[in-house]
Amino acid sequence: MKLVLATHNPGKLKEMSAILGGLGVEVVMPSDLGLTVDVEETGDTFAANAMLKAKAVCAAAGLPAIADDSGLCVDALNGGPGVYSARYGGPELDDRGRYTLLLNSMRGVPTRSAHFESAIACAFPNGDTLTAEGRCDGAIAFAPIGDGGFGYDPVFLVPEKAKTFGQMTEEEKDALSHRGKALRAFVPKLAAYLKK
Ligand code: IMP
Repeated sequence: MKLVLATHNPGKLKEMSAILGGLGVEVVMPSDLGLTVDVEETGDTFAANAMLKAKAVCAAAGLPAIADDSGLCVDALNGGPGVYSARYGGPELDDRGRYTLLLNSMRGVPTRSAHFESAIACAFPNGDTLTAEGRCDGAIAFAPIGDGGFGYDPVFLVPEKAKTFGQMTEEEKDALSHRGKALRAFVPKLAAYLKK
């Protein structure tokens, strides 16, 4: 069975193909099918945005589609940047610009607690849907450390490991990350659905 991954990110395709390959599912990107589906992320939760993307791509492709949506929620910023994580500070900022802006807005703020969230949604042409979520708790560092990963990784500290995501190997991060947890929660649900 073919499943379309509602992303333009080849990194996510690689990560998801590796995990879903074990279920005998072939993961393809919209571009492999000649589709470009730009979905506006207008939901106010990660789960809502993941479902918007999954349903739009499923409708366009006529095939089951999986989407994920994720971001960083900082307690001292009332849960922000949250669903705006990728757009925080405006389109001219890159990853480094975004985490620098975050550190600047947290200057002198003693409450550093934060978490990453990831939501996965799968939509089938018959209207069925599956969802899964994952969360990783941590804290915002006072300065960036490590150059691994992407996005806010260098400023997201996991206290039990005394390391930022930016200092972890892919395997270390995957074992405790929001996306790793969401994917591990999603796989048995998909497997059970496919057996039906
Ligand atoms: P999206 O899920 O592709 O919409 O991305 C949401 C944004 O949240 C990304 O652009 C990153 O800025 C941030 N983000 C999500 N997951 C991670 C992560 O594992 N590490 C660092 N930043 C992340």
